[in-house]
Amino acid sequence: MSDRFTFSVSATSGDARVGEMSTPRGKIRTPAFMPLGTAATVKAMMPESVRATGADIILGNTYHLMLRPGAERIAALGGLHRFMNWERPILTDSGGFQVMSLADLRKLTEEGVRFKSHIDGSKHMLSPERSIEIQTLLGSDIVMCFDECPALPADRTRIAESMRMSMRWAVRSRDAFGDRPGHALFGIQQGGLERDLREESAEALKRIGFDGYAVGGLAVGEGQEAMFDCLDFATGMLPEDRPRYLMGVGKPDDIVGAVKRGIDMMDCVLPSRSGRTGQAFTRRGVVNIKNARHADDPRPLDEACSCPACSQYSRAYLHYVFRAGEIISSMLLTWHNLHYYQELMAGIRGAIAADRFEAWEADFHALRAQGDI
Ligand code: GUN
Ligand code: ZN
Repeated sequence: MSDRFTFSVSATSGDARVGEMSTPRGKIRTPAFMPLGTAATVKAMMPESVRATGADIILGNTYHLMLRPGAERIAALGGLHRFMNWERPILTDSGGFQVMSLADLRKLTEEGVRFKSHIDGSKHMLSPERSIEIQTLLGSDIVMCFDECPALPADRTRIAESMRMSMRWAVRSRDAFGDRPGHALFGIQQGGLERDLREESAEALKRIGFDGYAVGGLAVGEGQEAMFDCLDFATGMLPEDRPRYLMGVGKPDDIVGAVKRGIDMMDCVLPSRSGRTGQAFTRRGVVNIKNARHADDPRPLDEACSCPACSQYSRAYLHYVFRAGEIISSMLLTWHNLHYYQELMAGIRGAIAADRFEAWEADFHALRAQGDI
């Protein structure tokens, strides 16, 4: 295995790409879906089960881990991989995005963000330098620049000023990261839905130079059509020979549309969170397991799925444990949803490798249009 971070594209189908990232902790097949391990756990899952679903990499969060249990504590205990018993690659988000949605009493300046913890009200600060320090203490394999993501809709002036500050923060993130062979630093493009601002942001990031490039600031309430319209131009502004990561996306059809537009990596809370609220993703769309129609149904959730929830339990059982509030409900549905997402990615990769992504996409939408049976 390489001791450096590398990325190569092995096949394309239209703008969709299939390839591989390599890190000293393992390979990441792309297009990749990264489950959320926000608080040093993929909720309701053992790490070996996460791996069994097919995940090559998971995501951790600077914001949550700095507040509890603390980055210095995790470092003293041997780093995040050892701490949570996941020895494969971890990407960490930089914290700015989570501060804005979760923290109390935020104060944003050129220096960074001061805020109060949503857990206990304690006071903290995040800056590009501190975010990179925390991600380094955690031992993250793919480190994200510290950025700011304005909530949409916002006016153009606000989006432009925010993007330019994120680009100045990207320079500071790059300087703070230094040279760490085997670890990657990704820049994050901002600029809302405006083509010229996305272009300005991409040019700034390319001048600085990163191991990979993320598209940030999307899936924040603009809707799928607007997001796809933006990706139609935004993805192509980023270097072809580097991985492109769409942050915080998405539903299965968002993922398919993003890959079609040249995206290589994605993360989303949806499959794991939905597993805890009784929503299951299947080839035929979303199934709400709490619905009374499942109470006497002996069939599996999805007869074509090989996960434990589908191969060993009935819809009736999944319905009952959900309604009864049993912990196994979250475990089984999370496993199923993460398995579904990884099977989706495997299907996508196979279709691109065979240069039949468009036909695969038509089949994907046709099956969903039939609905649950
Ligand atoms: N997660 C979803 N969107 C974003 C973004 O724009 N920036 C960061 N850092 N994380 C995100
Ligand atoms: Zn299943």
